[in-house]
Amino acid sequence: MKVKNVGIVGSGQVGTTIATVWLNYGRSVTVRDVAEPVLQKARATIEGSLERRVTRGDITPAQKEETMSRLKTTTKVADLKNVDWVVEAASENIALKKSIFAELDAACSPKTVLTTNSSSIPISTIAAATKRPDRCAKMHFWYPATAMTYMEISRGYLTSDEVWETLESLAKELGRKPIRIVKDYQGLGNQYRQMEIPPRGGVWWELMMGKTTLEEVEARPKGKTPEGFAQVLNWMEMQDFIGLDTMLGIAEAAVQEWGAAQSYPCPLHRRMVEAGHLGQKTGIGFYDYSESPRKAIMGKFSPYLVKFLAKDPEFVT
Ligand SMILES: NC(=O)c1ccc[n+]([C@@H]2O[C@H](COP(=O)([O-])OP(=O)(O)OC[C@H]3O[C@@H](n4cnc5c(N)ncnc54)[C@H](O)[C@@H]3O)[C@@H](O)[C@H]2O)c1
Repeated sequence: MKVKNVGIVGSGQVGTTIATVWLNYGRSVTVRDVAEPVLQKARATIEGSLERRVTRGDITPAQKEETMSRLKTTTKVADLKNVDWVVEAASENIALKKSIFAELDAACSPKTVLTTNSSSIPISTIAAATKRPDRCAKMHFWYPATAMTYMEISRGYLTSDEVWETLESLAKELGRKPIRIVKDYQGLGNQYRQMEIPPRGGVWWELMMGKTTLEEVEARPKGKTPEGFAQVLNWMEMQDFIGLDTMLGIAEAAVQEWGAAQSYPCPLHRRMVEAGHLGQKTGIGFYDYSESPRKAIMGKFSPYLVKFLAKDPEFVT
């Protein structure tokens, strides 16, 4: 099947870079989000990315204009009616993604393929909210999609062979190296990163219970990701980079999938998300990004977190 017109649902940090990739590969892209200011920010980010390509000499100013002319933004789901392929990249929440898929199912042509960029929620779970589970799949771009060329692709229990084959060839066409997840479980990286119960990956719990310190976590060797890649960021930087809200959504999806005996989000994690301290995207998480918005300064931890974790002599924890 030919994929010329693409819809992106959710223009946060990942959706915006996914839209840029499709535009760079010649597609017409309609980006849908819930509010105009978010869409304006996404448009400006995409334009900035293209401008950097002009500066590097990768494209001409005229090519940049032509690329921007293929981008539409909208708050109306009806504007996605005639797209061939959708990538949903809204917040990591099962109920939200199911409601978005139900809405897309009602609004889009029966031929449209609906994919999710979810880090952790099985596509079969989301596709159950539609009448076209055979035309649903997972297309998990890594963030930032403009730089990270690995992609996890998953087929659901009912995904058709046509959609699965198109997905794999599209991933390659977009310059990705597809990693096939054929049993529709949480992607490789996030299977391990979401673990929040001791002893596996229980850094959240260790911090909350005073068994380690922010400084000790910062000093731990970075090692390799579960996929075998050398880690560039320390554990806390990684949480901040991905977003603490997304990481909480991943942990909650793991509880739904495997039960609390396997993983359980730590109260410290919830407190930080409730405070809106989500990491780089809100300027504060484990680290304070007020001086350096995209890069953690080692040792410059959130003063709120430092205060919250401070030992109280009257209590054990
Ligand atoms: N952050 C990462 O490193 C990363 C990497 C790979 C995949 N993902 C996945 O990508 C998805 C998005 O993550 P993100 O980091 O971009 O989150 P984000 O919080 O930056 O962006 C989410 C966007 O979804 C929008 N949204 C919420 N409800 C919506 C609705 N009903 N319709 C349309 N848009 C809606 C929000 O307004 C926001 O702009 C998640 O599923 C996440 O698991 C994230």
